[in-house]
Amino acid sequence: MEIDLSDAKKTIERYRDKKGALIPLLQEIQDTYGYVSKEAVELVSKELSIYPVKIYGVLTFYTQFYLTPRGRHTIRVCQGTACHVMGGKELLDYLSDKLGVSEGETTADGTFSLERVACLGCCGIAPVIVVDEDFHGRCTIKNLDVLLDSYKSEGAE
Ligand code: FES
Repeated sequence: MEIDLSDAKKTIERYRDKKGALIPLLQEIQDTYGYVSKEAVELVSKELSIYPVKIYGVLTFYTQFYLTPRGRHTIRVCQGTACHVMGGKELLDYLSDKLGVSEGETTADGTFSLERVACLGCCGIAPVIVVDEDFHGRCTIKNLDVLLDSYKSEGAE
């Protein structure tokens, strides 16, 4: 599928004469498209005369950037110490098996992306997962199924 890069072009124009603006430029492109595509990298490279290797260097250094399309919902499973002790690893393994994806991947139907994160700062309710912006504490494998179904049907509306 061909990507319409007209918004990316407008963004590049706004950053064209700003020094050291590669990171905010890439952030804005990601905000628009949900990820930074190969085509967007090529466009930035061509328009701003920056080697693609430098752009990919930034994109792969900062974990905030995605190089592939994201799912409608992003599930982040905390793997900090408290969550790990309380079963966070089992939750991550369960989700990985159930969704058929590894960390950093998106389900084939585009519904969920799965990620691991370090301590989310709410260890008192470990183990914690975050779906999009919603925190879910004291998660169990049992309530994960209910949670997944609710987000699935939400996206189907
Ligand atoms: S270790 Fe998971 S919230 Fe702190």
